[in-house]
Amino acid sequence: MKAIILAGGSGTRLYPITKVVNKHFLPIYNKPMIYYPLSMVMLLGIKEVLMIVNPSDESFFKSLLGDGKHIGMRIEYKVQEKPNGLAEGLLLGENFLCGDDVFYILGDNIFFGHGLPEVLKAAKDEVESNGGAYVFGYYVNDPERFGIVNFDKKGSVLSIEEKPKKPKTNWAVVGMYFYDKDAVKTAKSIEPSGRGELEITSVNNFYLKRKSLKIKLLGRGLAWFDAGTYDSFLEASEFVATIEKKTGLMIGCIEEIAYNNGWISKAELKGISEKLSKTDYGQYLQKLVKEG
Ligand code: G1P
Repeated sequence: MKAIILAGGSGTRLYPITKVVNKHFLPIYNKPMIYYPLSMVMLLGIKEVLMIVNPSDESFFKSLLGDGKHIGMRIEYKVQEKPNGLAEGLLLGENFLCGDDVFYILGDNIFFGHGLPEVLKAAKDEVESNGGAYVFGYYVNDPERFGIVNFDKKGSVLSIEEKPKKPKTNWAVVGMYFYDKDAVKTAKSIEPSGRGELEITSVNNFYLKRKSLKIKLLGRGLAWFDAGTYDSFLEASEFVATIEKKTGLMIGCIEEIAYNNGWISKAELKGISEKLSKTDYGQYLQKLVKEG
């Protein structure tokens, strides 16, 4: 399985903050936002990732993450010329995926919780062994903002509606999806929505119609932020700050995960930490080197 991170978009909801800076570079507490979805990819043990980016941001992404070698990964970039919708990322990823399964994650979605890597690994195994699509539901207070799942009385999924005016439930589909090799073909078959975008919800509904969509509802123990509004941005930062200060451990530290995965050696981690030794981030890495 490979991964695609959607890091394009116009960021209009965060204007004027995003007038000159893409939201994925903005800080969620002490790291650029893009570190968090990237760390989910890494926690799944996926080494090959394609970043879908805006034309004006490609060089900045390359300065920040390069080709990924320093964290034991292979990172590629593909420009999305216009924000034509989330499902377009699958079309742009066709050559990169080359018929592989995909873990598809939105660059502004931040997850944290005990047991989350295990939940994700189970979904990955399911799609790799049996195909289909696997998505996650999360109970929200503001369902008009999301893709919302409708269930029948027995709890089976009937449909998913994108940003419904009158939501039938409060269960939102989070921005993290597993698809089998048919994802690109499916994305090619869908039509733009009323707002003129190729919706990821249309891809999910396609799998649902074929009875090959699985959904797992995430419990209260897991935190999810779609950092697309001023408030969710702030909440995500406060959340990360609180956890990190309480535990002394970082969330979304990509060098730490690379080291724990065995993708970089202790000597390599030491090298990175020494270059950053004047920063808190570097000192955290130095502590890891010392403590192992
Ligand atoms: C997108 C999807 C939506 C999903 C949400 C999760 O919405 O279209 O179905 O629930 O991400 O973050 P957007 O944030 O692009 O409006």
